[in-house]
Amino acid sequence: MLKLRKFSGLGLLAVLALAGCRQDMHDQPRFKPLAKSDFYADLRSERPQAEGTVARGQYHEDTYFYSGKIGSDPGDYMPFPVTEDVLARGQQRFNIYCAPCHSRVGDGNGMIVQRGYRHPPSYHIDRLRKAPIGYFFDVMTNGFGAMPDYSAQVPPRDRWCIAAYIRALQLSQNATSADVPQGQKIPSDNLVFRGEPGSGATPPEMAPAEQASEKGEGTK
Ligand code: HEC
Repeated sequence: MLKLRKFSGLGLLAVLALAGCRQDMHDQPRFKPLAKSDFYADLRSERPQAEGTVARGQYHEDTYFYSGKIGSDPGDYMPFPVTEDVLARGQQRFNIYCAPCHSRVGDGNGMIVQRGYRHPPSYHIDRLRKAPIGYFFDVMTNGFGAMPDYSAQVPPRDRWCIAAYIRALQLSQNATSADVPQGQKIPSDNLVFRGEPGSGATPPEMAPAEQASEKGEGTK
């Protein structure tokens, strides 16, 4: 009997000792943000980044590609060649991310604007036609006035594709017949469709042969 009691006393002690060691995750040694610490000479628990630290995926050696700027001014060249694929990508991204406000032709009359959002300037005003291409990249990257930035939604390469496409839009809206290469000119009498975008004008009736081929019913 005495033996048993001794034993249970020991057991109780062991349980108590173990409970003393127990540490829950919600109660671990840590510092509250920006709390003081005597451990470091500068008494700060918050440690500064080691110099030259670069977060994973954030090493941007080619600064022009990531900023569109040379020094503090926007640059006026594309950081990679503009191919048909680049323009097609730019058109697709533009129609998703920019056209809701700027409209598909860039006149600033997109659906959100028609419903009351601030009207952006048309891309076809002189100031923006003369703006260097890096400027468009910068507006997308950092936002402009009432316009939020699109750096989270549109990665840098796509931003450049969009900038190239905006240039193409600007050219398209201000082209003259002098811009059409020799040999591809159409006599002006044949240019029947003169509707401005949004003017309500509709293209002329298609010839029956064209209609058939549009429906995929052309001759085989
Ligand atoms: C939610 C609507 C909205 C969307 C989407 C939007 N913008 Fe804008 N944008 C604006 C408004 C509004 C302004 C005018 C801002 C101001 O003047 O305060 C503007 C201005 C601009 C300007 C002209 C800046 C200047 O110098 O006047 C450019 C260039 C531009 N946007 C490019 C883009 C591109 C490229 C995209 C797509 C990635 C885009 N925007 C998407 C609303 C939008």
